[in-house]
Amino acid sequence: MAEKPRVVFITGAGMSAESGLQTFRGAGGLWENHRIEEVASPEAWEMNRELVLRFYNERRRALANAVPNDGHRVITELQDEFDVRVITQNVDDLHERAGNVNVLHLHGELTKARSSADETLVVDIGYRDLCLGECASDGAPLRPHIVWFGESVPMMRLAADLVSTAHALVVVGTSLQVYPAASLLWEAPSHAIRFLIDPNPPEAPGFYVLSKGASEGLKEVAHLLRQQFFFR
Ligand code: APR
Repeated sequence: MAEKPRVVFITGAGMSAESGLQTFRGAGGLWENHRIEEVASPEAWEMNRELVLRFYNERRRALANAVPNDGHRVITELQDEFDVRVITQNVDDLHERAGNVNVLHLHGELTKARSSADETLVVDIGYRDLCLGECASDGAPLRPHIVWFGESVPMMRLAADLVSTAHALVVVGTSLQVYPAASLLWEAPSHAIRFLIDPNPPEAPGFYVLSKGASEGLKEVAHLLRQQFFFR
């Protein structure tokens, strides 16, 4: 059985927009009149822990009421014919809930928390609130399992290696304003075909751009991928 062609998806907040979850820069990058970069930061965690917990508790509650959209499902359906890998900047679990396997969360996961002293001590908290004063098994305060602005992105090497082995790269719903995630686009091998799906697409030289939403764009890209690799 010939190896399945590897299709790597890089998704951002726009992937979850049709599930009703706010994008970051859509709301002008603000939450309760705070810049998100200020709330999602180690400094905020030190200075105003309650504000940070409230920010993520609100997003976890919204996630509990959200469901995957057709875009997530198109990716799941492609898993039969392609070796599908998803690299997401999103911290929601909609890819997983749609049946996407091999999902790599560059910026962490909303449904998990971890010791603020030991980043390997991670616990599942589902969609519940994380309350002030909760501690991990090592006695340190529990914090959201999220990569904050200014913190390192431990999965970057793994993600870059994945993109470098792609036969096709599909970028969906990201403004490409946050690094190092955005630099992943340039790790694709020259022979890989490249698609970018976004109703308001950022600059992406060498990409076939579909200026439309995730669900509609992914249906079209799925058709093009089947044509390209299976001539049908
Ligand atoms: N379908 C596809 N894309 C959409 C849709 C949609 N229905 N609606 C909006 N978009 C696009 C927007 O045009 C925009 O280009 O989704 C993109 C969202 O961009 P951002 O809000 O900047 O989100 P993202 O690129 O994922 O942010 C990256 O920044 O705040 C940090 O860590 C956080 O992971 C996040 C990172």
